[in-house]
Amino acid sequence: MQYDFSALNGEFEKKPAEMVLGWALKEFGDKVAFASSFGAEDVVVIDLLSKIKPMARVFTLDTGRLNEETYEVMERIRSKYGITIESYFPDRVKIEELERQKGFFSFRESVENRKECCGIRKVEPLNRALTGLKAWITGLRREQAVTRTAIQKIEVDEAHGGILKINPLADWSEKQVWDYIKVNKVPYNRLHDLGYPSIGCAPCTRGIKPGEDVRAGRWWWENPENKECGLHR
Ligand code: ADX
Ligand code: SF4
Repeated sequence: MQYDFSALNGEFEKKPAEMVLGWALKEFGDKVAFASSFGAEDVVVIDLLSKIKPMARVFTLDTGRLNEETYEVMERIRSKYGITIESYFPDRVKIEELERQKGFFSFRESVENRKECCGIRKVEPLNRALTGLKAWITGLRREQAVTRTAIQKIEVDEAHGGILKINPLADWSEKQVWDYIKVNKVPYNRLHDLGYPSIGCAPCTRGIKPGEDVRAGRWWWENPENKECGLHR
């Protein structure tokens, strides 16, 4: 099906996130799924989805290196909303090879090694998760990073075969996210209360100091322009 993206984005830019999600669910049914890492934005999207279509598909990339707190919030969300979280795990053989050859912290040694690890633990599982889908939903926001300022609410994801990528919170501020969580009593990752605004894998995420960039604690040893793991290209 052909879409007039500038018209769609023009229409949805000023509309609430629920409308974008409603459109995507109606348009794609079971061929759209939400990619969730259970960070603050993602628990908001899950709560919004639960009010529109309680059994909307949710998947997560369980990299094998997540924080315990992340598994805890996944479990709280699973039981509160009664949803199946489709988890995708990295290829066992590739992880065994990587760890045997380069050890357990190879990602600290170079950007290339870091991207190799993200490739095995995130990008390949994401490709499997997206197989057969017509669209995927994310919790991306423009304010999050220099690499994200231009995202649209509805995009064509050329990096994933031209399926659609839906970013319903693209224009939300961090304050809006937290106001929503508090008002709607949405379970959230308790690392957020310990100074982690953005949460990825445990060895590649740390808390930030007041005034630091929200993604300063992600791959903190790298430059900001490198700080994408390959999920969002
Ligand atoms: S990342 O690319 O730097 O890791 P970030 O943590 O900001 O991304 O998350 C942005 C969006 O990417 C999330 O809102 C979510 O839609 C998706 N995402 C990130 N990590 C995962 C994951 N482990 N599993 C599923 N989706 C994820
Ligand atoms: Fe590997 Fe770190 Fe990327 Fe996780 S964030 S996949 S541990 S390099």
